[in-house]
Amino acid sequence: MAEPDLAPIIAAIAEEMKAAPDRGTVASYIPGLARIDPARFGIAVVTASGEAFTAGDAEMSFSIQSVSKVFALTLALGKIGDALWRRVGREPSGTAFNSIVQLEAERGIPRNPFINAGAIVVCDVNLSRARPVEAVAELLRFVRYLAEDETIGIDRMVASSEAETGFRNVALANFMRAYGNILHAPEEALWLYFNQCAIAMSCTQLAMSGRYLMASGRHPSGASVVSPGRARRINALMMMCGHYDASGDFAFRIGLPGKSGVGGGILAIAPGKASIAVWSPGLNAQGNSQLGTLALERLATRTGWSIF
Ligand code: DON
Repeated sequence: MAEPDLAPIIAAIAEEMKAAPDRGTVASYIPGLARIDPARFGIAVVTASGEAFTAGDAEMSFSIQSVSKVFALTLALGKIGDALWRRVGREPSGTAFNSIVQLEAERGIPRNPFINAGAIVVCDVNLSRARPVEAVAELLRFVRYLAEDETIGIDRMVASSEAETGFRNVALANFMRAYGNILHAPEEALWLYFNQCAIAMSCTQLAMSGRYLMASGRHPSGASVVSPGRARRINALMMMCGHYDASGDFAFRIGLPGKSGVGGGILAIAPGKASIAVWSPGLNAQGNSQLGTLALERLATRTGWSIF
């Protein structure tokens, strides 16, 4: 397929999203997210050659929420490598992002690093030899390095509202602690988790952060962020597990590795071609951006970027 003409494709998608009748429902279970305007839509595409294409609210900052699980996983793999897979599985869960049901039968080992339970174990790993405040700082340094943007920060209001209301996450951490799969104090792993979810980025910053995953693990500076094999595996996990119980539907409709967050952001990777971020705060029933998913479906169709 010839190189797609991205500027008109992206502009048309942003225009179409303005007229979309079903915009989904903004997450209200975290007070800090409930006030976001559902009319927002942004898209940013950064290509392998380094060009960036944006449309809509691509420069507006939003809470990346569970998209942060990709960056936290990358750090944890850097710390303990494949030993991580003794504590977290790599199978789709087929359950909601915050589900606890599989944990009892599976002895405190979460199905994958992208459901909440798995991400909390990843946080526990990232606390090795670091206090929570240092671990948060390390993750923030990492995403700033990936995006080449020192302005990326944490929305403290979202972090604290989540800490006040995240009772299910508290339950998950304690449940896994009972099985010996959380090694630090559960509240420390949770503090890191709530803060990483509250990282705020724009679509442009998020697409820039994802470049290593389209480029076989390489930062644009030429430095290796992860090996090509590890980039391939992170992409595989995003494809299989990045949208919880809608991961199959996302693969069916879009055919790209992707990771969503309840803030309405999605990072999608077209390996060798592009790193893509979309944002629209209205969610579908599985907690994934309604318009973000639709926009990615149209982008994948019009560019021919689906990996299938
Ligand atoms: O754990 C939570 O409730 C959120 N802070 C993160 C969840 C999330 O983004 C799930 N994504 N769709």
